[in-house]
Amino acid sequence: MAAAAAAREDETASYMQQFDGRLNKYDFHLEEIPRLSHKDRRAEALIAAEKPVVLTGTSLVKTALKWSLPYLEANLGSGDCNVYESKTNRFKYYDDKKLTSTPDFKFVPPTHLRQMTFSEFVTELRQCEKNPKRKKRVYLQQPLNDTVGPAIVRDFVHFDWEWLRENQSRCNWGPLTSNLLLVGMAGNLTPAHYDEQQNFFCQVEGQKHCMLFAPDQFENMYPYPIGHPCDRQSQLVLEEPIDSNVFPNVSKLRGVHTVVGPGDVLYIPMYWWHQIQSLADGEHTTSVTFWYRAGPSPKEIKWPLSVEQKVAVTRNIEKMLHEALKDPNEVRHVLRMIVDGRYSATNWKTPYEGMEKPV
Ligand code: FUM
Ligand code: FE
Repeated sequence: MAAAAAAREDETASYMQQFDGRLNKYDFHLEEIPRLSHKDRRAEALIAAEKPVVLTGTSLVKTALKWSLPYLEANLGSGDCNVYESKTNRFKYYDDKKLTSTPDFKFVPPTHLRQMTFSEFVTELRQCEKNPKRKKRVYLQQPLNDTVGPAIVRDFVHFDWEWLRENQSRCNWGPLTSNLLLVGMAGNLTPAHYDEQQNFFCQVEGQKHCMLFAPDQFENMYPYPIGHPCDRQSQLVLEEPIDSNVFPNVSKLRGVHTVVGPGDVLYIPMYWWHQIQSLADGEHTTSVTFWYRAGPSPKEIKWPLSVEQKVAVTRNIEKMLHEALKDPNEVRHVLRMIVDGRYSATNWKTPYEGMEKPV
């Protein structure tokens, strides 16, 4: 944490001031995420400690900084892309494989996924921008795969793979799993969620406000149950007043934030909650993600476990209960049965009553 505090004192001191009045107001406390040169040792230390940092001056996606809409239209290829459509600015992720879990009820997906060429997407984007009263918004979220044209392949090959490999090996991460291209309208918002992978989030065009919440905010973020299509998402709508009777921990919520612009790389550590919004008074935005799997578990496990490890354990237990019991009400019942009057009791301490130290 010392590196984070020191870093915050200098480069970051007034960076966020320039965005005063341009960002939503939130009731919870937000500190600035350090902005550091990628050559700065403190940046390396933050990544190794799984703390967020904005890296400046990298050439990670330098060849993508020319990826304007006309360039992408000319070079992305004629394959279909995933385009989410929403009637609000919120693009909440959901897993359609979990849509059928409760037969009597129908989950109403918050967005609608469509397939179209990049060129068709640009036409839709322009129409949506021209007719804000229609309240239709679009957000392209397409993995960079082998359907892209030769110019994009060349740009991709010239990403700074050496720098990535150094970080991957220093931090003992697993393999790169995917690169997602995100092209969205001004104001589009990806609500708070966490991913189970490490992410170098690269901003290419436009600016995005990124709010992050540490894994120790798990109880304050109120994730959906694991069997819900919105697993890994927060139930909180951070832009609206939150009912503290329903979500009493919300008063304890605290996070960090920054605004990323072209060339910035935000490290979003695994299990860190993040909510990302394209600035409402800006243009469209373009970003590229680099997702890495976690590395192998450490040979030596230390107790107490880290918060990240506890989140992983919690997920595994919840997954097992959900798979065995199917019905979320049953999961609630069994969890209560385990806790109530046993782990909720305040009338025992360790060593347990009746235990004695051997002589
Ligand atoms: O909208 C976004 O840029 C979201 C990115 C992410 O969740 O990684
Ligand atoms: Fe994410």
